[in-house]
Amino acid sequence: MTVPGKVICIGLGPGDPELMSVKAHRLLTSASVVAYFRKAGRPGQARRLVEGLIPAGVEEWAMEYPVTTEIPLDDPGYKAALAPFYDHWTARLAARAGSGDVVVLCEGDPFFYGSFMHLHARLPRDLVEVVPGIPGMAGCWTATGAPITWGDDVLTVLPATLPQAELARRAADTDALVVMKIGRNLAKLKTALTTAGRIGDAWLVEHGTMPAERVRRLDEVGGTVPYFSIVLVHGRGRRP
Ligand SMILES: C[S@@+](CC[C@H](N)C(=O)[O-])C[C@H]1O[C@@H](n2cnc3c(N)ncnc32)[C@H](O)[C@@H]1O
Repeated sequence: MTVPGKVICIGLGPGDPELMSVKAHRLLTSASVVAYFRKAGRPGQARRLVEGLIPAGVEEWAMEYPVTTEIPLDDPGYKAALAPFYDHWTARLAARAGSGDVVVLCEGDPFFYGSFMHLHARLPRDLVEVVPGIPGMAGCWTATGAPITWGDDVLTVLPATLPQAELARRAADTDALVVMKIGRNLAKLKTALTTAGRIGDAWLVEHGTMPAERVRRLDEVGGTVPYFSIVLVHGRGRRP
């Protein structure tokens, strides 16, 4: 008799496998099918995080994006390429869940800028479950060795993909700041933070909690930065 299962997305935390929850670890190490997103031809960050933890004999499904940065996010071609991709994997995962749980890997927390939400939105509610994870930004501010918010500080999280003027306006109007998805947006972000008067207080954390972790003052960084990079400005709120 087949036991119907669920599509369970487990948040793996910021990078260090020891920062995964006990629940995520249990589901991972007892899985029979593990799925994960990746860029074509790459191992995939979520898969890399669980290297050595997946039991032998597990079926692995690599969900390879048809496009990533080749088409701008606001180009209609981007949505046109990704919608059928998410439809396809939703159907495959749902069909497989008919005979037992399928575990989907997600770096950080699934509901925090994670691709899984595109599958979650398409899956019936009773067929899907999400296990939260420590978001990458928590790993990154911990890597700086300083608290991100004190007292009444307001924390703003921005994707660096926003227009420069929008980044500057929001950076000027917050106490603490986290900027995600730096990639090709580094120069624009640095200009925006200069305009906002925040560049001198900004830090860049690459690969937070991973073996290649690196923390630098943003105004000392030039050139390109890895995909796994976050910019932080610490709040300076009420302190006893
Ligand atoms: C698509 S978002 C996924 C966020 C993830 N779900 C989370 O909870 O952190 C990818 C962005 O997260 C940021 N990121 C996540 N983990 C990171 C880490 N350990 N170190 C540096 N940046 C990280 C980077 O800015 C990257 O471009």
